[in-house]
Amino acid sequence: MPRDTALTLRDAIDAAIYSDETVAVASLVKTAALSDADRARICDRAAALVTQIRTSADPGLMEVFLAEYGLSTDEGIALMCLAEALLRVPDADTMDDLIEDKIAPSDWGKHLGHSASSLVNASTWALMLTGRVLDDEKPGITRHLRSAVKRLGEPVIRTAVGRAMREMGRQFVLGETIQKAMKRADGMQAKGFTYSYDMLGEAARTEADAKYYHLAYSRAISAIADHCVHGSVAENPGISVKLSALHPRYEVAQQARVMEELVPRVRALALLAKSAGMGFNIDAEEADRLALSLDVIGAVLADPALAKWDGFGVVVQAYGQRAPLVIDQLYQMAHDLDRKIMVRLVKGAYWDAEIKRAQVQGIDGFPVFTAKQHTDISYIANARKLLGLTDRIYPQFATHNAHTVAAVLDMAAQMRRGKDTFEFQRLHGMGETLHTIVLGAENTRCRIYAPVGAHEDLLAYLVRRLLENGANSSFVNQIVDESVPASVVAACPFDAAGPRPDLPTGPALFAPARINSKGWDLTHQPTLDAIERPARPCMTPVSSQGP
Ligand code: FAD
Ligand code: 2OP
Repeated sequence: MPRDTALTLRDAIDAAIYSDETVAVASLVKTAALSDADRARICDRAAALVTQIRTSADPGLMEVFLAEYGLSTDEGIALMCLAEALLRVPDADTMDDLIEDKIAPSDWGKHLGHSASSLVNASTWALMLTGRVLDDEKPGITRHLRSAVKRLGEPVIRTAVGRAMREMGRQFVLGETIQKAMKRADGMQAKGFTYSYDMLGEAARTEADAKYYHLAYSRAISAIADHCVHGSVAENPGISVKLSALHPRYEVAQQARVMEELVPRVRALALLAKSAGMGFNIDAEEADRLALSLDVIGAVLADPALAKWDGFGVVVQAYGQRAPLVIDQLYQMAHDLDRKIMVRLVKGAYWDAEIKRAQVQGIDGFPVFTAKQHTDISYIANARKLLGLTDRIYPQFATHNAHTVAAVLDMAAQMRRGKDTFEFQRLHGMGETLHTIVLGAENTRCRIYAPVGAHEDLLAYLVRRLLENGANSSFVNQIVDESVPASVVAACPFDAAGPRPDLPTGPALFAPARINSKGWDLTHQPTLDAIERPARPCMTPVSSQGP
């Protein structure tokens, strides 16, 4: 369908997907509007938080685990690969091959006893045992012994590795059912935290999957409703949903079908949440679905039955160049519909996948920033933007990074925003010490995003957590490494703003040997328009075709 040539906000969002990183960052630095004195004050506050977290008696298990198995070790990479693949391998033989491939070559022994956490050491034991058992290349009698154990013991090995993976999973899942999760939430709620429950499950492949997840969300909303005893959505627990769980063809190529089938599903869930007085949040997923998600969100939000409810929430990913435009569009929607909405600002959980996808497609650019400090700057700039729009938006700052938290607190104070005009958020199993300190000292709000469900559905979520936290640039990874001074962990991202790092784009992927084949982003409306334009004069409108 030909599109209006006027550059609307929605078109601007489409157009900006691969925009130049240096230009985008220069504009964000201006939006953040932090003077040298502001930056220094924020860094001091952040460094003090880092020191406080480090001296706390109770560093989070996840932090400890990742300190031992970051992506900078072979074992860490083996673990990520294994976690990514193991749970979806259908048969035992392939599982054993995979374990042998990923576990055996690694030097698990050197991690043994390193960690202060007995759980991390226990996982090391499980992995080392497996590595030893599978390593039958060594000569002599041990080789025969080990190969015998291997022959006899494969189910045991599988169980051991499965256990280690499950143990990691337990760290991230609040409960297998919503009832168990809400019971376990009592402890943190007593400390002043609130919750947003997330029913595990995404990327439905079939209509049956989508129906299953739809039902799981509906049941969860009904169960959570009993706990919505406060008068405001900010104080009540809420729910987070992924659109990809609710439709098997949630993709640009199926736009019409998505609008026809997915919109009513989301609307039905939103109406349930509204009647319970709870927050209902649409998680952000891959960049190629951003524009489509805004269409779905706009259509749902426009339903008059949702009027006078301020619990509809949308997530904005700061790692995308389009974040400020997305905030503009959401504000515009809220204004036009006379609503107040919630906007959760995150850095973004799909970084590795976005980079790889753009390269594989041969695209000359990326839909996300390629330098970590650029994402940090974007977060701070967009946080300021959101704090300036509180007449229509309730900002939810989701981060585990002490510098980012310090920047938000500083800007909110400078802008004289009340403590109840925004909230912080953290993921279950992460950032607990930081947010407990901040909640106690600042009297600000904090909500915990808590995955609920069976371990089989955890895989994609777990891999995102391992990848994002295993990277040595991540805050969670750095804070446990005592050799990195607090001032470095809390370093100012603005000091490091610069050109895009030398990460090869699609065309340069095989340089200097050859140029990569040209790719087309068939989820990008301007690209689709460019492909269609030359053919348009020859196209017959469907309505004027003969019988
Ligand atoms: P930091 O360590 O400061 O930042 C890590 C992040 O920096 C990475 O995740 C990545 O986004 C970015 N990054 C890393 N390397 C680079 C690089 N080389 N170039 C550019 N950027 C880089 N994510 C979603 O995508 N959708 C959601 O709906 C969503 N919901 C969330 C809800 C809550 C309550 C929370 C706490 C998080 C949610 N997330 C979501 C996940 C979130 O994106 C990550 O947890 C977050 O990016 C980690 O940022 P940080 O500030 O805690 O840590
Ligand atoms: C994710 O699923 C938390 O929504 C975020 O990774």
